[in-house]
Amino acid sequence: PSPAALARAESLIALTPDFPTPGVLFRDVGPMLTDADALADVMQALAAPFEGAFDLVAGVEARGFLFAGALAASARTGLLPIRKAGKTPRPTASVDYALEYGTATIEAAGDLTGRRVLLVDDVLATGGTLVAAAALIEQLGGEVAGVAVVLELVALSGRRRVPSAHAVFTA
Ligand code: PRP
Repeated sequence: PSPAALARAESLIALTPDFPTPGVLFRDVGPMLTDADALADVMQALAAPFEGAFDLVAGVEARGFLFAGALAASARTGLLPIRKAGKTPRPTASVDYALEYGTATIEAAGDLTGRRVLLVDDVLATGGTLVAAAALIEQLGGEVAGVAVVLELVALSGRRRVPSAHAVFTA
């Protein structure tokens, strides 16, 4: 996509002060998702560096599912949903991690031996989620072929923990 198209998509990220807690400026990708051109342009920019390098897309519940699902369909790959604790009947991998607003556990099931996985999420904040998700993919026997996010929150320094992350937008 052109820089103008990406700038237009970025302008659709809505800013909400004091959500979910006072002092936090929340960046909502919702309005970007409901715009057809913005969604297509962002998906293209998200996947561009990894063309031909992955055969499965993984996304973390919940907002990561939106982008991972859209990207998997447009790239014609499979999709691995990485779920929060208690949602997977027989998880074969489980990882605990610290979150921007608390702690969580992620789980998934399956055998990813030989699979090259592109790990996708909406936001890179502290990086805890993506570090945990990458460990989970490796527990399942897969190889993390890349990490891609729509928005990197630079002030939270997640890049220190996920140095290779590709971010379409930064704030
Ligand atoms: C948000 C976001 C990322 C994560 C980033 O998810 O969607 O997955 O936090 O934070 P980190 O880099 O500090 O780990 P959240 O767990 O709030 O879940 P949601 O997608 O259900 O809103």
